[in-house]
Amino acid sequence: ADARDFAGRRVVVTAGGTREPLDPVRFLGNRSSGKQGVAIAEAAAARGAEVTLIGANLEVASPGGCRVVPVSTALELQQAVTSAAGDADVVVMAAAVADFRPADVSDVKIKKVDGQEHMSIELVRNPDILAGLGAAPHDGTVLVGFAAETESDPSRLLELGRAKRRAKGADLLVVNRVGWNHGFAADENAVSVIGADDTVTAEASGTKMSVAHAILDAIAARIAYGAE
Ligand code: C5P
Repeated sequence: ADARDFAGRRVVVTAGGTREPLDPVRFLGNRSSGKQGVAIAEAAAARGAEVTLIGANLEVASPGGCRVVPVSTALELQQAVTSAAGDADVVVMAAAVADFRPADVSDVKIKKVDGQEHMSIELVRNPDILAGLGAAPHDGTVLVGFAAETESDPSRLLELGRAKRRAKGADLLVVNRVGWNHGFAADENAVSVIGADDTVTAEASGTKMSVAHAILDAIAARIAYGAE
């Protein structure tokens, strides 16, 4: 691909994993390091894009050349992505967003009670941010979702990805083959990219940076297709 093929394009990338607070010292979180999303932001900037990186609790340094918006919870991520998505050409939802959050957040550290052997936490559903963007009119914005599944059967994994792309209204859906000895916090990844007609438009494995470029190639092809 042309080294500056994203020149003048506005690209929004969410990366990392949300944390949902229980009290001032505890949260419900997930193991997403943010490496793949950060690599996409860095690669897009290198290809000339104007990048907004919405980083949720990133475990890696943010790349230079991007506008970085730090967030922590799903609701904060929703607000940041909604305000950035309006004039974006591409929105890549690589962040792992918590499906639920604690119904109540305690102002003070929750204490165990003597003799207490069980406790339950009530959770409420978080908004599905990607599905919200996909359901709203988004002409001129390529929406890219991710699916991290533990399914090990490749064809079933692709089926899950196809169903997820349709359910979310995404233009492209990147299936993360986390079960295939890759995944969270690793420096390498293996993905398949599902396009609008349910076909696999790209497959890539290797460093997260090389996978990032392959995903951007698929996005560039989709932009060119949309411009026809
Ligand atoms: O539904 P699931 O979590 O498997 O879908 C993953 C995709 O949906 C990712 O692109 C993720 O960023 C996005 N997502 C979201 N809002 C949620 C949950 C997931 O945007 N509440």
